Amino acid sequence: MNKMTTTTFAESNKNKILDRIGNTPLIELKSFSSDKIKIFAKLEWYNPFGSVKDRASYWMIKNAEDKKLLKRDKSIIIEPTSGNTGIALTGIASNLGYKVEIVIPEKVSEETKNILRKLGATLHETSDDLCPRVGAGTDQSIALAYAISKPRPDIYYMPNQYENDSNFLSHYQSTGPEIWEQTQGKVTHFFTGCGTGGTITGIGTYLKEKDNKVKVIAIQAQQNHLLQGLRNFEESSKPELFLRREKVIDDWYTATNEKSFQMVKELREKENILVGPSSGAVMASMMDYVKDMDEGVFVGIFADDGRKFKSLYLQQNLFTEQEYIKYLNNCIMLPSLAY
Ligand SMILES: Cc1ncc(COP(=O)(O)O)c(C=O)c1O
Repeated sequence: MNKMTTTTFAESNKNKILDRIGNTPLIELKSFSSDKIKIFAKLEWYNPFGSVKDRASYWMIKNAEDKKLLKRDKSIIIEPTSGNTGIALTGIASNLGYKVEIVIPEKVSEETKNILRKLGATLHETSDDLCPRVGAGTDQSIALAYAISKPRPDIYYMPNQYENDSNFLSHYQSTGPEIWEQTQGKVTHFFTGCGTGGTITGIGTYLKEKDNKVKVIAIQAQQNHLLQGLRNFEESSKPELFLRREKVIDDWYTATNEKSFQMVKELREKENILVGPSSGAVMASMMDYVKDMDEGVFVGIFADDGRKFKSLYLQQNLFTEQEYIKYLNNCIMLPSLAY
């Protein structure tokens, strides 16, 4: 039968949103580049649900569907997350006909929680820190997600981004090849922040397979940090997914709140882009690293933009409310999102 006759308009529209995952722009940050040092940012907020996590979420759901672990209109997807994975999972899963429950530290920004509710997620809040520890008995979000889902395996499915290889594969099969093609194979150094480790291990493994001289630089947050999406690996042990392939990392940076926020401001001033805190962390680390370099093509992942961080940025005195609103309206490269 002709596919057109079996697909409703609403369904094809939904699929169009999911078709927009990946293929994000790589832009040169010209005010930071010089003749021989080229600085590029991969703008992951161009994904339809606004962050790098659209990729891992889509890959995890598709993989579970392929393995028949999910039943449309019946299964509930549950996941412990501090934000972006929750937004991506909820957006993608509701498009595909699943309900979503998110277990979330109460310290996550109100903007993030409101987006999750608007997308239809049920939230279970815990008193975890923003950067919950990974490991048995130390992380309330993970423990609660298990406690809810384990007794009802017929209904609940927990993708578990901390262990699920589809998280790694999403970057190995999409983000890595995109960066290689967008730089025409010229990338010499790759930088990203780390949460589960899916982004760094996926992209890092791919780039090193293409050219084993590419350097892979991991960025963790300082202890007791405000950099949503990143972790500090003294506070929190490395997730299983990370440990499987951490040998791909050549160098580590620890980003401070202060330098990361300062860089958010600088990027707004020099490039007129409004980035999230972790992009500030990546950029600050990258610029510190290139101080000692003579040449190279440096690529950093900008995981999300500044639209979810109004309250944080005002609280940190980065911008006044009027400035923030003005920048939101005037900043370039803020595409419309699917929520
Ligand atoms: C906001 C945000 N989410 C997620 C990630 C990457 O996370 P993961 O290591 O889980 O792939 C980053 C990395 O920079 C990030 O900044």
